[in-house]
Amino acid sequence: MVEADQTHAIEVTINGERQAATVPARQLLVHFIRDTLGLKGTHIGCDTGSCGACSVIIDGKLVKSCMLLAPQADGAEIETVEGLSDGGELSPLQRAFNEQHGLQCGYCTPGVLMAATFLLRRNANPTEAEIRRAIRGNICRCTGYVNMVRSIEAAARATAGSIDAAARASAVIDHKEEEAQ
Ligand code: FES
Ligand code: FES
Repeated sequence: MVEADQTHAIEVTINGERQAATVPARQLLVHFIRDTLGLKGTHIGCDTGSCGACSVIIDGKLVKSCMLLAPQADGAEIETVEGLSDGGELSPLQRAFNEQHGLQCGYCTPGVLMAATFLLRRNANPTEAEIRRAIRGNICRCTGYVNMVRSIEAAARATAGSIDAAARASAVIDHKEEEAQ
């Protein structure tokens, strides 16, 4: 049986940074992320695995962080919404949510962004049905989901555009190198 005052020393990598802490045996991961590490972007909506507001990516998998105890995450690589931007620069997905009005109050948004990030890593060009399936674990009381879907579609297009541009640039370099030989 777990004693109420039992603690565990854990180490995680969160958004690329190593963090060590001693945590209560029964502390939920979402509370560790928010209260111990101070990363308040991960929200709590229900504490029972229903709303998706607490979604993070752990070792490449989408996880509701209220459904895991902090000691269970020992040794894990965790990504939260704070890790999506790069040096203060919004990611294409975050920009798309801003431009396509994919949020209103924003409470669900961190969890939706993590679910969409997980989707786009596995499927760069999802259909509307695939997007809706990917965010079905995330409850939003404001948007009606339409603009969220548009935002994720726009992010997929933007990312595909930058991949195309990079591929074209590399093709030009290859061509020039061939000509020079
Ligand atoms: S707070 Fe975790 S699913 Fe709602
Ligand atoms: S934007 Fe308000 S809950 Fe989704």
